[in-house]
Amino acid sequence: CEIDWDVNAASKNGYPFFMEKEIAEQPKAIKDTIEARITDDIVDFSKDGIPEEVFKNFQRLYFIGCGTAMHSGLVGKSLLQQFAGAYSNVEIASEFIYDNPVLDENTLVIAISQSGETIDTLEAVKMAKKMKATTISIINVRESSIAKASDYVIYTNAGPEIAVASTKAYSVQVAVMYLLTVQIAMINGKMTLEEGKAFIKKLRKIPDVVEEAVKNRETIHNISRKIIEAKDLFMLGRGLDYSAILEGSLKLKEISYIHSEAYSSGEIKHGTIALITQDTPVIAVVTQNKLASKELSNAIEVRSRGAKVILFVKDGIKLENEEEWYEVVRLRDVSDEFMIFPVTVALQLLAYYTSLDKGLDVDKPRNLAKVVTVE
Ligand code: G6P
Repeated sequence: CEIDWDVNAASKNGYPFFMEKEIAEQPKAIKDTIEARITDDIVDFSKDGIPEEVFKNFQRLYFIGCGTAMHSGLVGKSLLQQFAGAYSNVEIASEFIYDNPVLDENTLVIAISQSGETIDTLEAVKMAKKMKATTISIINVRESSIAKASDYVIYTNAGPEIAVASTKAYSVQVAVMYLLTVQIAMINGKMTLEEGKAFIKKLRKIPDVVEEAVKNRETIHNISRKIIEAKDLFMLGRGLDYSAILEGSLKLKEISYIHSEAYSSGEIKHGTIALITQDTPVIAVVTQNKLASKELSNAIEVRSRGAKVILFVKDGIKLENEEEWYEVVRLRDVSDEFMIFPVTVALQLLAYYTSLDKGLDVDKPRNLAKVVTVE
C-alpha cells in the first residue's frame, strides 16, 4: 500500500495557495488511503503488517495526537462506540505524557500525526512502549520518527501536505478511523461480515461525496463574506457535528485569525450563552438525523438572543420558517456517520476564503509551524 510521492506534486499546480490545492486533492487522498486496505469490501490491515489479534486483545484504547490529528481521534472514539461497542480515550499528547495514563500490555495506543515528528506525540509513543502497550501510529510521512518508534504503522496516502493548516491529512486520518472501526467491530463480533461489507461500500463512495463538496466552493465563499469582519464567533454542533466543528473552528483560528469557539450545542447554555448578544455570528452545524431537533432548538435559543445564525444543514433535514435563519447552507445528504466529510470540506473552505479575502498568507499563518519539535 505504498504510494510514492511525486516531486512535482509539491508545486501549486495553478492554485494560489497550497491549502486550496490540498483541499481539492482530498477525494484522491481518501481513495488512495482506504482502497489500499480493502479487498472485496473487507478491511485488511495485514497489508500494513498488523496482525488481527492486535485489534482483539486490548482492554484499553487511547487515541493520542495534537491539534488537528487529535481531532481525528475524536471521530474514531464516536465511531468505535457506535459501531464496535468499544470504549476509547482521546488524549492531547502533551497532557497524556504527564497525566499518569494507565498503560500496560493490555493497552492499545493509536498515535495520529501527519508529520510523524511532533515531539509530544513521539514522547507519548515512547512512554507507551516502555510500559508495554502496543502502539500503532497513523502517519503521513514515511520513515518519520513516530513511525519508527511504533510497533505498527498505518501510512495515510495523502501525499505531501505543505500548507501549515492541515486539510487532506485530517480527512485521511478520519478515513482510517472508519477502517479501524470496521476491523475492531468485526473481529470482536459486533458487526457481521455482511454489515462490515455494507459499511465499507458506503465508505468507498466518500471520495465522490467529497468531490461534490469541494465543487460547492462558491456557495461557501459567499458565506465567508458574511463572517470576514467578525472578531469572535461560535460554532455549535452535537455528536459527530461537535467533532467536526472543533476542527473547523481550529482552521478558522489558524488562518483567518478570527477567534472561534466550538461548543457542544447542549453545553452552550451552561455558561457561554452569556456571550451571545445582538448580531454575534454563530455557525450551527446540523447533520445528524437523530440529533437534529435538539441541535436546531439549541440554535434557535441563540438566535432568539440576537445571534446571526448561519446554518450548515444536511439536505433532507426539514426546516420550519427557513427565512428566520441568517443563512442556510445545504449539505449533501449521506448517512449520519459519514456527514463529517462534507461538513469538514465546507468548514475548510470557509476558513480558506476568509483568510484569502483578508489578504493573509493562507499557507503560512503567523506564529505557527507545520512541524512542532519542541515540547
Ligand atoms: C502543528 C500544526 C498543526 C498540526 C499539529 C500536529 O501544530 O500546525 O496543524 O495539527 O502540529 O501535527 P502532526 O504532524 O503531529 O499531525
